[in-house]
Formats: sequence, structure tokens, C-alpha cells
Amino acid sequence: MNVLLIGNGGREHALAHAITRSPRLGTLFVPRGNPGLAALGREVALNIGTAEDVIGFCRDHAVDLVVVGPEAPLVAGLADPLAAAGIAVFGPSKAAAALEGSKDFTKTIAQAAGVPTAAHATFTDAAAALAHVRDKGAPIVVKYDGLMAGKGVTVASTLAEAEAAIRALHANEADARIVIEEMLVGEEASLFCLVDGETVLPFGSAQDHKRAFDGDRGPNTGGMGAYSPAPVMTPAMERRALDEIVIPTMREMVRRGTPYRGVIFAGLMITAEGPKLIEYNCRFGDPECQVLMLRLESDLLDLLEATARGSLAGHRVTLRPDAAVTIVLASQGYPGEYAKGSEIRGVETASAMPGVTIFHAGTRREGGRLLAAGGRVLNVSAVGADLAEAVSRAYAAVDAIDWPEGFCRRDIAARGLIAR
Ligand code: AMP
Ligand code: GLY
Repeated sequence: MNVLLIGNGGREHALAHAITRSPRLGTLFVPRGNPGLAALGREVALNIGTAEDVIGFCRDHAVDLVVVGPEAPLVAGLADPLAAAGIAVFGPSKAAAALEGSKDFTKTIAQAAGVPTAAHATFTDAAAALAHVRDKGAPIVVKYDGLMAGKGVTVASTLAEAEAAIRALHANEADARIVIEEMLVGEEASLFCLVDGETVLPFGSAQDHKRAFDGDRGPNTGGMGAYSPAPVMTPAMERRALDEIVIPTMREMVRRGTPYRGVIFAGLMITAEGPKLIEYNCRFGDPECQVLMLRLESDLLDLLEATARGSLAGHRVTLRPDAAVTIVLASQGYPGEYAKGSEIRGVETASAMPGVTIFHAGTRREGGRLLAAGGRVLNVSAVGADLAEAVSRAYAAVDAIDWPEGFCRRDIAARGLIAR
């Protein structure tokens, strides 16, 4: 089977790592520019902004399956023309990807399906949004209704913060659609499921660390580290999340004639009343994907193909009972301004340590040297018999890497360790 992978960060390196373990793989075509991907597949220069180019490439290279990692091309509607051209694609249609693309749409679906989620109201008028938060009071959550690379959400502990968030969104876009939500209290966890329209297969849980610095301080990022499984996601809690949240949502999507196909990433708050939906994403999380792939025993290619072809029934996702953790090494300054081009040493030594796998998120090779080329640069990952072992292995590998221009959080998975 020839596979074209779209996306070139740490998540896609982890997907490629799992795909290349499949005995069914022919050629894996990967985007240019990630040394980790380059080591696993054949690099191609492809403009994914144009579906015709992708379709032409698939025809010329006998590609059997296109696997889309990031949300942007899915929300923009890349899967639809590919499917129309008869090419199997892992990733939802434009209509189904609206579960990530529009928070207001997700709320509408959740209401129709009776899914527990935070109470909300949606506004395009700034004055009405401001009046609403003044009426409700803080704490309150202000969200931009669209993709904003994780930067569109403000959990405001004061009214002034909420008002500032509304004004900033409107200053950025005059008629910005804003969703105002009740703040949920509890432990956050993410649940991943493969969905082929009808069949929903759980793919394990993970917990992310969104803030830049230790102790959940500093600005929000794309994610500074993750671990799996999430201790709050006990088998009983997973069952509830499936029965009360994911399955009813997917039924509603089928009922509307826009079945969901791909991986659904449910961001959940485990509250005193049970699991509640925070948001959906139409892709694997980055860096949650990295830890899930390290625990996966099943053939990923089989699962991705069955999801794309609507034949998931009868498949199983088997995960090792081991724990996995990933620590993000980022350029100093991320998520703000940062310098590129500093040299990273010791990655090979670190990769050879027990249980360790290192995924490339934002690096490039120049001659024999490995250089930083992005905000999030490396995902230093490890598996262990339990979370404590995985964490100590991952930090030992971090310490073997010599990169003074980088930083990482030192408390990844600390909450999971206490929970035990
Ligand atoms: P989102 O992009 O919707 O996942 O929001 C980013 C982060 O904001 C989430 O991971 C939560 O930590 C937080 N968040 C979003 N909505 C809520 C809510 N209603 N209550 C509490 N925290 C929230
Ligand atoms: N790590 C969070 C995300 O991928 O959305």
C-alpha cells in the first residue's frame, strides 16, 4: 500500500513511525523539511493548498491512502475532492471537520444530541457579548469561533479579563463570532476515537500540558508535553464518555447526512457530575499522538485504511498497558518570538537510551548538524512499565541532549504521578 502523509511536525513523525511498522506498507511519501520524516519515507514537494495537485500526485504515484495529520487542510475541505476522485483519505470531510472548525457548530450538535457541555451563548456583536459577560460575571470563558492555533480561548478569572478578550477578538476581526461559555471545573483529559461514520473505536486517552512553564504558568502553547493513559480516564469513565458524548455526537452527524470519518479528539472535563465536552478536534493531538503511537500494538495502517473505507467494524485498537510520556523541547521564547538555527547535540545518544524515541517537530539538517527550525523542536518520548518509569527515562534523555537555546517543562505528568 502506498501512502501519502500530509503534515510535517512531531505528530506526523509519530504517525510515520507507526505506519512504517506495517508489513503492508509499500512507499510512504512524506512532505519535505522534517529530518525525522525524511528518514522514514520518500520526501516529496507538494502544494497541498491545491487539491488538483494532490490528486495528480496520487494518480502518478499509485497512492492508495492519504493520511492528513493537521486540522487546517481538513477544515479547508481537502478530504472532499480526494474522496470524489476515488482516493481513500484518512480525515473527515469539510462538513464533519466543522466539529473543530466552529465551536458554535459543535455546541449546536451537542445540544441536538443531548451531550453534556458548558452552557454557552454566541455573539457577533461586541456590545452584546460585553453585556452578556457583565450579566454572568467571572469566571467565564471567551472563545473565538474558528481556528486560531490554540490561541483563541481565554479562561477569564475576572470580568476585566473577559472584556479585554472580547475587545481583542473584535479589534482583530470586526465581526468576529464569539462563543461565551460557563467555566467547567474538574480534571481535563482527552479521549481519542477512530470513527468510520457508524463505528466508534476508542484509541486511548492522554493528558496535555498547554501552558509554557512549570506549574501551569505562562502563556498557552500548542502543548508542552503529554502522557498516556490519563489516570482520570478509568475504563468506567471512558465508557461514560463514549456513551454520553462521542457516540451520540457521531449519531447526530450521521443523521444530518454528514458522517464523521477519521480520528475524533474529544477534549473533556471530568466534573463532579461526570464527563463534559470542552471541544472536539478533527485530528490526533500534537503531542498527544506521540504518546498514543508509542503505546499502539495494532497495525496503524490497517486501522487508518479501515477508517477511510468505512470498514472499522470488527477491528480493535490494542494499546500496550505501559505508560508513555513525551516532553517538548522548545526554542527559548516560544510561544512568542524565538531565534532559529541553533545547533542541537546529543540526539543520537539520547535516542539510544532505554525506552526512548525522539520525534522531530521543528528541526532541519545542515551538513552533519541538527539545527532548531521552529518553536516546538523535539518531542523526547519514552515508554515505561508505569508512568514513573516513563517519566524518568524521558527526562534522562532530555538531559543527554545539549541545546542551551532550548527549554522544556520539568513537571510533565506530575499530576498523573500524584493521581496514582
Ligand atoms: P479549547 O481550545 O476549546 O480546547 O480551549 C483551550 C483550553 O481552555 C482547554 O483545554 C481548557 O483548558 C480551557 N477551557 C476551554 N473551555 C473551557 C470551559 N468551558 N471551562 C473550563 N476550561 C475551559
Ligand atoms: N496538544 C493539543 C492539540 O493538539 O490540540
